[in-house]
Amino acid sequence: MFKAKSITNDIYYVGVNDRQKLMFENQIPLPFGVSYNSYVIVDEKIALIDTVEIPFAEIYIDKLLDVLRGRSVDYLIINHMEPDHSGSIRAIKRLFPDVKIIGNARTFKMLAGYYGIEDGLMEVTDGSTISLGKHELKFFLTPMIHWPETMMTYDASDKAIFTGDAFGAFGALDGGVVDADLMVNKYLDEFDRYFSNIAGKYGSPVQKALEKMHSVQIDYICPTHGPVWREQIPKIIDMTNSLSRYEGKRGVVIVYASMYGNTEQMAEAIAEGLSESGEKNIMIYDVAKTDASFILTDIFRYDRLVMGSPTYNNGLFPEMASFLLKIENRDIKHRKFSYFGSSTWSNATMRIFAAFAEKMKWEVIGTAVEEQQSLKENAYKACIALGKELAKA
Ligand SMILES: Cc1cc2nc3c(=O)[nH]c(=O)nc-3n(C[C@H](O)[C@H](O)[C@H](O)COP(=O)(O)O)c2cc1C
Ligand SMILES: [Fe+2]
Ligand SMILES: [Fe+2]
Repeated sequence: MFKAKSITNDIYYVGVNDRQKLMFENQIPLPFGVSYNSYVIVDEKIALIDTVEIPFAEIYIDKLLDVLRGRSVDYLIINHMEPDHSGSIRAIKRLFPDVKIIGNARTFKMLAGYYGIEDGLMEVTDGSTISLGKHELKFFLTPMIHWPETMMTYDASDKAIFTGDAFGAFGALDGGVVDADLMVNKYLDEFDRYFSNIAGKYGSPVQKALEKMHSVQIDYICPTHGPVWREQIPKIIDMTNSLSRYEGKRGVVIVYASMYGNTEQMAEAIAEGLSESGEKNIMIYDVAKTDASFILTDIFRYDRLVMGSPTYNNGLFPEMASFLLKIENRDIKHRKFSYFGSSTWSNATMRIFAAFAEKMKWEVIGTAVEEQQSLKENAYKACIALGKELAKA
C-alpha cells in the first residue's frame, strides 16, 4: 500500500518518519521527529542503500516492494551500521536471500556482531566502483562520520551522493523529501542541531570527507536523516565546513545555573555590559531549563561563551557539571571564554571553570567574577566590565 517517492528517474526514497521517539540516542529531544532515510537505485541491477530502524521495517518493506515491482534487490549497500540504519538488514536478507551486501572490512565485523550475517558479502575499499548498468557507483570511505565504518556512495550518472549521517538533519519529513519541496528553514535549524550534537566531535574527519567530495560533481546530497539536499547544497556545505572548523560567527552564549537567582543576576549584568558595547547576538540560557542540545547548537554557532554556576555541595550545580561533560564530549575548539560563580561559604566553581578552560585550550577573556550571597555593587560592576571586555574580544 505504501508508496515510494522518486527523486530522479532512477532513484527512489523508501525511508520512514519516526514521530514517536522522544529522544534521539535516548538523550536528544525530537520536537519535530526524525526520519530514517533509505534509497533505491533502479537499473539493470537494483541497489538499496541503508535501511531503517527495526520498528519501521513493515512500512519500509512495503515502500521497497512498490519500487521493485516484482524484481529483487541485487545489492544492499551499508554506508553506516548504527542500528537506526542497519536495523532492517536481517529483514532484507530474509526477503532476498541472494542479495549481495556491500560494505568495507569494518562494516562486516559489525554486521557479524550485530546480526550474525557473515555470507553474501562484497567488500569495497576507498575508491572502489561497481556498475549497476547505466549507473556507476563509487565508494568513499569516510571513517568517523559518525562511526569507524562509515562510508559514502556516489552515483556518477545522477550526480547523487549518499552520505550516511553526514549532512543529516533532525525533523521528520513533512510531505516532501527534497529540500525544494519542504519548509526548509526548520530543517536548516535542525541541521545545525544535528551536526552540533551528533557529528560535532568529528571536525577533522568531516573536513577530510569534504575534501574527498570535492572531486565529484554533486546535484543531490542524500543523507540518512532529514531532507535530500538539492537547492541548499552550497549552504549546507558551507555550514558543515564552518561548524567542523569550530569557527563560530560573532555572538555570545551565556549559560548559567541558578537556584535562587543570585547567579542569574550576574548573567544579566554581563549581558548588559555586552549590550552597552553594541553586541546584539547574545543568547542567555538557564542550563536547567533549556535542553542541552539547543544550547550546544548555539555554542557551535557563536565564537564566545560565558558560563556561571552557584557552588553546590562543594562542586558545580549538577546540571552544569553534566553540561561541561557534553561540551568536552564534543571537543568544541577555539572558544573565547569567561566565567562567573556565586557561593555562600566557600567557592568551588571558579577553580572548576578555570581548569575546564585550560583542558579545552580556550582563551580566557577578562576577569572572572565571583560573589558571595547576593549580588552587590562591586561584583555587579565587575560583571558589566566583563561584558564590555567580551564585546571587544
Ligand atoms: C543544596 C545546596 C548546596 C550548596 N552548597 C554550597 C557549597 O558547597 N559551598 C558554598 O559556598 N555554597 C553552597 N551553597 C550556597 C549557594 O552556592 C549560594 O547560595 C549561591 O549564591 C546560590 O546561587 P543562586 O541564587 O544562583 O542559586 C549551596 C546551596 C544549596 C541550596
Ligand atoms: Fe550514526
Ligand atoms: Fe543516524
